[in-house]
Amino acid sequence: MKVLVTGGAGYIGSHACLCLLEDGHHVTVIDNLCNGSPVALDRVRELSGRSLRFVEGDVRSEADLATAFADGVDVVIHFAALKAVGESVEQPLRYFDNNISGTIQLLRSMEQAGTRRIVFSSSATVYGDPERIPIDEAAPLRATNPYGRSKLVMEQLIGDWCMASEGAGAALLRYFNPVGAHPSGRIGEAPKGWPNNLMPYVTQVAVGQRTQLNVFGDDWPTRDGTGVRDYLHVMDLAEAHVAALHYIASNAVCRAFNLGTGRGYSVRELVAAFESATGRPVPYKVVARRPGDVAEIWADPALARDQLGWQARRDLAQMCEDAWRWQSANPQGYAS
Ligand code: NAD
Ligand code: WQD
Repeated sequence: MKVLVTGGAGYIGSHACLCLLEDGHHVTVIDNLCNGSPVALDRVRELSGRSLRFVEGDVRSEADLATAFADGVDVVIHFAALKAVGESVEQPLRYFDNNISGTIQLLRSMEQAGTRRIVFSSSATVYGDPERIPIDEAAPLRATNPYGRSKLVMEQLIGDWCMASEGAGAALLRYFNPVGAHPSGRIGEAPKGWPNNLMPYVTQVAVGQRTQLNVFGDDWPTRDGTGVRDYLHVMDLAEAHVAALHYIASNAVCRAFNLGTGRGYSVRELVAAFESATGRPVPYKVVARRPGDVAEIWADPALARDQLGWQARRDLAQMCEDAWRWQSANPQGYAS
C-alpha cells in the first residue's frame, strides 16, 4: 500500500515507518520537525535498506499536504501532534490549533485525494482517572487536560468523518506507555530538553546527564506506593500499526483499540528492572505527587488481540535493555 505517515520523523512514527517498509509498503512522511529529526528517517532508510519519501511540512498546510498526497495515498497514519501534558495546560490554544486544526486539514486533504482510510495515534489519556482496571474500550472517556481533550476531539472528528464518508475506515489506537527503542540502538526517543516521561528520565540519569530521578509520590494506593502504568515496547507498538493497516484495508469501520500489555508496573519496579537489565544504578528520591497523575492504569488489550491479531511480545527487561542501548549509543539523541 501507499502509506502517508504524518509525524514520521518522531519517536513512534520512525519505528512504525521501519515496520511499514519491512512489510513492503511505500512510505511518504510529512513532518514539520518541531519535535522530530531527519536523521531518524536516514536511519530508518539505513536499517530497512529501502527508500522513503520525506516532505518537510505542516499538516495544517493544505499546500504541504498536497505535496505529500501527490503520488497517491491508500492509507494515512496520523502521528503528528504535540504531546506534552504540562505544556498543554500552559498553552491550550497552541495544542488545539496544532492537533485539532491539523486533523481537520488532514481529513479535508484526504477527501480531496480520495483517501478513505486512517490509523490514528490516540492515547490512554482519553480515559482520565479510571473507575475500573484493566480498562477496556467501552470505559467512559473524560480527558483531564488540554492535550487529552485534543485527542478526544480528534477521535470524535475522525469518527464523524467516517460516518459521513462512504467507504471510510479508521483505527483509533489508544496507546498506553510506549518505551524502549529499536534493538539496533539506531533509532529511539530523543526528547528535547527535560524529559516529561519516566523511561527517558531514567536513561538520562543512568547515562549521567541527570543526577537523580524524582519519583512523584510513594503514597499512592498501589502495591508499593508509586504509580503503576502499562509500559509497552515501541517495536510492539510499531507492529500494531501494520496490523491496524491491514485491518482497516478490509474493514470500513471506525473502531478504537487499546494497545498495551495488560500488565502494570510501578515506578519502583521499573527502576529495579532497569538496574538489573543494564547493570546501571539509577539513584532516586521521592518527591511530591505530580498534579494530574493517577494511581494506576493498565489496559485490557483483548480487542486488539481478537480483531487485529496483535499482542505485545516484548517484556519489561527487553524494554529497559533497548532503551539503554539507544541512550548509551546516542547520549545527545540524534545530535550525538
Ligand atoms: P513525537 O513528538 O516524537 O512525534 C510527533 C511528530 O509529529 C514529531 O516528529 C513532530 O515534529 C511532528 N509534528 C507535530 N506537529 C506537527 C504538525 N503540525 N505538522 C507536521 N508534523 C508535526 O511524539 P511520539 O511520542 O512519537 O508520539 C506520536 C503520537 O502518538 C502523537 O500523536 C502522540 O500524541 C501519540 N501518543 C504518544 C504517547 C507517548 O507516550 N509517546 C502516548 C500516547 C499517544
Ligand atoms: C509514568 C509514571 C509518574 C516521570 C504520559 C501522558 C499520557 C501519555 C504517556 C501521550 C507516573 C512517574 C514520571 C518522573 C516519576 N502520553 N514519574 N518521575 O503520566 O502515565 O502518561 O505519557 O499520550 O498522556 O500523561 O507517563 O512516563 O510521565 O509517568 O515518578 O520523572 O512515572 O508519576 O506514575 P504517564 P509518565
